[in-house]
Amino acid sequence: MVRAADSLYRVLYGGILSRLPEGIAVPLGQWGLRLLPLDLLPFFRNRDPRLATSLGGVRLANPLILSSMYYDTTILRRAMGLGFGAVTAKSITLMPRPGHPPPNLVRIDTPEGPGLVNCNGFHNPGLAAYRAALAHLPHRVPLIVSATGESAEDIVAVAEGLAPFGDLVEINISSPNTKLVYAWSERPEELAAMLRAARKATDKPLIVKVSPDFRRMNEETTIPAALDAGISIINCGNTRRLDEPRLSQKSGGLSGPALFPQTLDNVRRLRDRFGSRIDLIATGGIDSPDKALQVLAAGATACAYFTGFITRGPLLARRMLDAIVKAHR
Ligand SMILES: Cc1cc2nc3c(=O)[nH]c(=O)nc-3n(C[C@H](O)[C@H](O)[C@H](O)COP(=O)(O)O)c2cc1C
Repeated sequence: MVRAADSLYRVLYGGILSRLPEGIAVPLGQWGLRLLPLDLLPFFRNRDPRLATSLGGVRLANPLILSSMYYDTTILRRAMGLGFGAVTAKSITLMPRPGHPPPNLVRIDTPEGPGLVNCNGFHNPGLAAYRAALAHLPHRVPLIVSATGESAEDIVAVAEGLAPFGDLVEINISSPNTKLVYAWSERPEELAAMLRAARKATDKPLIVKVSPDFRRMNEETTIPAALDAGISIINCGNTRRLDEPRLSQKSGGLSGPALFPQTLDNVRRLRDRFGSRIDLIATGGIDSPDKALQVLAAGATACAYFTGFITRGPLLARRMLDAIVKAHR
């Protein structure tokens, strides 16, 4: 059944979705996700108790996380039934943002496989409206809410405002679509103060999502500052900045399998350097059961993906879970 449904998605994606212009394929895919009650089908899930893990004291039934991209609560509700141990909502800013004009997402073929480049620019409804939307979202699995902004004060205010609606709160300081991501390296004191203020603003476990473009700073500045502030969950990482003339902003964030070698190396290095002081979420290019096994074996506490959800389909989580259970035997 899993194989048959998986093959069906490959035909649908390879034959139709991946051939349509992105401007049509993205809304069509999201419309399908919203409309089809895939979350009611049990074959998306594997409930083996050996899959359980914990992030900052929050129990996850398994180590797979849908990475931040969707803010639509109907899609998040569906995703919670598609095998993930936790689901991340899109990064929210204090005020609504229209995001960057199209084209803001394009497909890219890399030697490692199919990826995406986006300059989404945090299209989101803003804190107040999103709090109202999240109030009606049941948490079938833990929900990770994500706070971002163009100033330290904004990020802290959003983290505080979202915290009551999430089981964990992610602080996104790593999107290549914000100017601030490049400014943190010149303002390490401000970064440390922001992390301390965020820690004071909520009792919920906090995650800091770091950029693959700033590996040295992550290791020498950001993660030590997070630990000093009392934040011990690190998500490595976000998209990687790339010049892309097809996008309205002429550059964006690369996601997909081209990121994987660096993701794996980051997991090894961070586990080696920080040992059991951190819980580690591996994100970036994980789009097959084998890659999930590799990052977990290298020391990741959990692994997250978004691009693989699109290019490999909603059954990827089940295939990964089956492989992890098999590897436990
Ligand atoms: C269209 C798009 C929108 C995204 N929006 C966010 C976001 O709002 N917040 C965030 O932290 N990451 C965002 N990401 C990054 C993903 O969560 C993830 O970190 C990145 O794509 C690398 O993982 P992947 O290779 O599995 O996609 C976005 C990625 C894409 C492709």
